[in-house]
Amino acid sequence: MPVPRPEGPAPPCRAAAADATRVCRAAPRQPGPPTTPERSPPGDQGADAPGGARSGGGRGHGWGRASRARADADRPWLRAGLAVFAEEVRGLGPVLDVGCGPGAITAHLAGLGVDVSGVDLSPRMVEHARRLHPGLRFAVASATELDLEAGSLGGILGWWSLFNLPRDVLPEVLASFARALVPGGHALIGTHVGEGDLPRTEAYGGVPVTWTTHLWQPEHLGDLIVAAGLEPTAQLQLAPGGPSGRAQVLISARRPPEAVPGR
Ligand SMILES: C[S@@+](CC[C@H](N)C(=O)[O-])C[C@H]1O[C@@H](n2cnc3c(N)ncnc32)[C@H](O)[C@@H]1O
Repeated sequence: MPVPRPEGPAPPCRAAAADATRVCRAAPRQPGPPTTPERSPPGDQGADAPGGARSGGGRGHGWGRASRARADADRPWLRAGLAVFAEEVRGLGPVLDVGCGPGAITAHLAGLGVDVSGVDLSPRMVEHARRLHPGLRFAVASATELDLEAGSLGGILGWWSLFNLPRDVLPEVLASFARALVPGGHALIGTHVGEGDLPRTEAYGGVPVTWTTHLWQPEHLGDLIVAAGLEPTAQLQLAPGGPSGRAQVLISARRPPEAVPGR
């Protein structure tokens, strides 16, 4: 079945060399991840992120994402993970928040002194992000189509945004993350823990959408991260029973620093 693509303006072109959100590779488009109509991307409904269920205020109108992401930043373990990431990447280079949604985590990192920008597949999300955080940079792009310059980023974030990628697509996306990092640069990936795939047909408010959440076991995701060329540095597992009812995992990894000749 063809994958519906969001409508909206083309991603910005790879023109502004200093801008980590340069993400244009308009043609040919790769097969994208399962995604949703522009009106109701999965992340717009607040149902599919660690704090999803708690953000019931988002039902049917898409505001759950912003409040949910703020809730992430208000959860001590997740906030700690973001604080460590911020400390690690500060000064290494620009940071890209891939699948940034309405930009609350991007803004949280910016508040921690990180030079961060965000990209999201959903033009609507990016619209929200720009309106909510006018001082920050956001662009429309798919994680599968980022055309990031090698060694151009100090850090890259996939904060509950990579579970929509088909399982056979995620390895190449992680490899592109690894290539984009400077030696010693850091990636932070957060996702739901579990077995199998959860097909979705409806979001909060009964809005019809189609997407799949791919659950991951931390060990398997860790193996993919290693295969992509990154060294896992830390792993934080959150027990089931949180707001989403699922276990969660946050994996931090870095691109190995370049070997010093003679050592
Ligand atoms: C659960 S939300 C998380 C948003 C944000 N990271 C946060 O925590 O607030 C998932 C986000 O991933 C985005 N997304 C899904 N597939 C994507 C892709 N292939 N490339 C970029 N973003 C994607 C969705 O549009 C949505 O905004």
